[in-house]
Amino acid sequence: MLRSIWVYLVIILSLSLSGCGNRIVDKQQVNKEEKIIIKFSHVVEENTPKGLAAIRFARLISERSKGSIEVQIFPDSQLFKDGEEFEAIRRGDVQMIAPATSKVSQLFPQWQIWDLPYLFSDLEGVHQIMDGSLGKRLMEQLKEKNLYGLAMWDNGFKHLTNNKHPIIQPSDFKGLKFRVMSPGILQEQFNYFEAKAIFLPFNDVYDALNEGQVEGQENTISNIYTKKFSQVQKYLTLSQHGFLGYAVIINLEFWNQLPDNARELIENTMEEVTFWERDIARELNKQQLEEIKKLNSVSIYSLDEEERRKWQGQFRFAYTKFEKENGSEFLNEVKKWNEGQEIK
Ligand code: LMR
Repeated sequence: MLRSIWVYLVIILSLSLSGCGNRIVDKQQVNKEEKIIIKFSHVVEENTPKGLAAIRFARLISERSKGSIEVQIFPDSQLFKDGEEFEAIRRGDVQMIAPATSKVSQLFPQWQIWDLPYLFSDLEGVHQIMDGSLGKRLMEQLKEKNLYGLAMWDNGFKHLTNNKHPIIQPSDFKGLKFRVMSPGILQEQFNYFEAKAIFLPFNDVYDALNEGQVEGQENTISNIYTKKFSQVQKYLTLSQHGFLGYAVIINLEFWNQLPDNARELIENTMEEVTFWERDIARELNKQQLEEIKKLNSVSIYSLDEEERRKWQGQFRFAYTKFEKENGSEFLNEVKKWNEGQEIK
């Protein structure tokens, strides 16, 4: 209870300090010539783990640099939507983005490791793998496209919503049309069970669900709640079938041109905000599930441990496909890490 109150206070404080989430620098303190501006674009609402962490990062950087570094945040696809962000950072229209790892996999297919259904049994495990050698090697790949990975944030596990019928097992996907955030494994996981999977940008999903272009989608509670998918979907299956994480990325050329002390400040602050983001992700997803329950308009089915184990078995084909296309190095590492662990 105390923790919930604390989280709400932090959210309110973060939102009020940020104004619209854009300019938060005291211009009196800075010399215009020396000021470093970092435009940070992302696609989700402010009241989400990514949205709040971006605000916190901007505020701390402004305070600690005494206004000489200004991080301007453009949330909710205001500036660029999915599919435009990578091009925008390449052109230098923005300097920072934080796309879902699934979207990074369009550039680097091995990033699909994060999409494999039921590969990760709990978030502690995901974080350890992200921060360990596997995560670092994936981040290193970004440099090939003039990108530098500052951190990996998370938004917890994904669940399924649709407006046709309850989904109790994967065979219930049959005949439904689902939105996915990326082609590849995410599409396959539905196609395999004779469902259609349509790849759409995040900010088109509400309309697509509302107008019947798609009947279902997979996402975290935080995205389902803040984007109001819960208002246009009848069934929610708490499946925890996949993980949604983010790569926080900065343009490499821009990064290399920053003074050493600016880079040090950004990296240290990012590390601190990353721990905070992971905590807030867990809390927000819990709280926002309670908000969805209060709506009373969504019928919720929660898979138990045994059902999740069965689903995991039925999704094995995705692991084989990943291995065939991306080699076994990464998958074997995660499997080794998982040895002896049960699905939670
Ligand atoms: C989605 O497209 O559903 C998510 O990747 C959005 C996000 O950034 O959380």
